[in-house]
Amino acid sequence: MPTSQDLTAPATATNPDAAHTGNGHPAPAACGPGYADAHAADYDRWFSKPGITGATVDTLANLAGDAPVLELGVGTGRIALPLAERGLDVHGVEASHAMIRRLREKPGGTRIKVTMGDFADVPLTGTFSLVYAAGGTFFELADREAKQRCLAAVADRLAPGGALVLDSHVPEALAVAAASGVPEVVSETDEHLVLCHRRIDPSTQTYRSHYVIHETDRTRHLRIHFHYVSPGELDLMAERAGLRLIQRQGNWAGGPFTKDSTYHVSVYGPR
Ligand SMILES: C[S@@+](CC[C@H](N)C(=O)[O-])C[C@H]1O[C@@H](n2cnc3c(N)ncnc32)[C@H](O)[C@@H]1O
Repeated sequence: MPTSQDLTAPATATNPDAAHTGNGHPAPAACGPGYADAHAADYDRWFSKPGITGATVDTLANLAGDAPVLELGVGTGRIALPLAERGLDVHGVEASHAMIRRLREKPGGTRIKVTMGDFADVPLTGTFSLVYAAGGTFFELADREAKQRCLAAVADRLAPGGALVLDSHVPEALAVAAASGVPEVVSETDEHLVLCHRRIDPSTQTYRSHYVIHETDRTRHLRIHFHYVSPGELDLMAERAGLRLIQRQGNWAGGPFTKDSTYHVSVYGPR
């Protein structure tokens, strides 16, 4: 069980985030990307992805065991809140105070136990039946070293029989889509249109997602930087950390991973 020292403090006027560092000290300045602080108020409106979110929650709930579960980069609780509604004891690591503030404002938001910090270090103790990062969040870690550190820390915190779940675009598919020059329609309502174009740099295994968000009264440009690795490279890194691939699917709905897959959802367990 996580030794939450004390991660469960309710939100108060003096402590609006109600989140702590793993050692109980005041939370550090955000170590994650600045886009989260800048756009926390809009994140759910632009990126709620109801269909994918439902499938993600179903998949993760099926993988969770009796011990608590941990989300890396918990954000505004898109996944964590519905998992908690299903009775799971959900913990999260997050770098952005603004995202946590949004999480706390939502019904049930104070039930999620959040540790502020860099999820590369998994800055909390205890063991978890399930650790996951959703929406490609693991690949926001800037380089291979940070990912390897994170995988090793997760391996230390997985309960026997536990699972780590990571999802990502397949790099080759990203390259094809980027070369086409056709932006992806991420979400569309009567009020907004969110388009994404990704620019890839194979020399550094990085890409930048450029989101252009058109709303009635203004247009905004949001950039998110990713460092990608291929599924095979991820498996090798996981093995180095003492984990092994258990299952790989082509999407959160459980579709098979095939030669045509553009996405993968990969489940790792202790070796
Ligand atoms: C794309 S959002 C996804 C949020 C949530 N997981 C979801 O699926 O809706 C990524 C989140 O991860 C956080 N994040 C990115 N890098 C981080 C890091 N190194 N440590 C902690 N949080 C990080 C960001 O602040 C942001 O809230």
